Amino acid sequence: MRIVPTVAAMQKLGLRWKRAGVKIGFVPTMGYLHDGHLSLVREARKRIGQNGVVVVSIYVNPTQFAPTEDLSEYPRDLKRDLQMCRAAGVDIVFTPSDAEIYPERQNPKSEIRNPQLFSTYVVEEKLSRVMEGLARPAHFRGVTTVVAKLFNLVLPDVAVFGQKDFQQAAIIRRMVTNLNFPVQIIVAPTRREPDGLAMSSRNKYLDTEQRAQAVILFHALLAAKRAVAKNAVPAARLKRDLAEFITAAPQARLDYVEFFDPETLQPVARVTRGAHLALAVYFGKTRLIDNDRL
Ligand code: PAF
Repeated sequence: MRIVPTVAAMQKLGLRWKRAGVKIGFVPTMGYLHDGHLSLVREARKRIGQNGVVVVSIYVNPTQFAPTEDLSEYPRDLKRDLQMCRAAGVDIVFTPSDAEIYPERQNPKSEIRNPQLFSTYVVEEKLSRVMEGLARPAHFRGVTTVVAKLFNLVLPDVAVFGQKDFQQAAIIRRMVTNLNFPVQIIVAPTRREPDGLAMSSRNKYLDTEQRAQAVILFHALLAAKRAVAKNAVPAARLKRDLAEFITAAPQARLDYVEFFDPETLQPVARVTRGAHLALAVYFGKTRLIDNDRL
């Protein structure tokens, strides 16, 4: 396994593999890896085969965090991440610094000369206007910008994202279609802890009590599936019921419950089987999200 810390070296490798016809599978991450990430690595390997190369990027992207969010506390453990990647058969781990990815934002001299030096962003304008996009207004602009940059550096044939970030995956798919990136986007199922909590690097923030209560998100998904199993239900009523159900956990503070069409991400008025449910719930300062098809 090779560790590649620079943009120049990563792009050189990507170009070399492309010219040699080697398939490239890519799993972009922000590190602090868990079994959910490893399942994306397995999916990438399955898609490109043993002769291809699997690249994992580990980069906590500052442009997708608002100033009030957890950028500085975001959990990091590169040594452990590298061990996990090695054991999972990853070929390349791309570990750029902020100065590598956003040199124009880093160089104080350039900033003085031209504070707008980093001024090109990729903005998806429809799917990113709902749910996470409302709760975190600049988030998806940061995600699409860094993913576009990473695609230009790694040059993947296949990139794998997790269903836990369903809206993110839909936006990236739209970006890839709209901007003609020659990459196939795969969305792999959410991995869950034995009690049903979706795996997430942010689960580390939860104290024992919050961790025990956090499983309410999974139970809310199950309850919604039961509610629409036989009949359509008005979304407003089901939202009210689920809000009550979730906030019965003493530390849970609901951010949103949304029922939506999985293609357009637009809210539905009546919830039927096949609609999608997304949840965002705070436990203390930790914001957890989950979703599933009903
Ligand atoms: O899902 C994530 O971990 C991040 O949003 C991503 C796709 C690596 C971009 O920073």
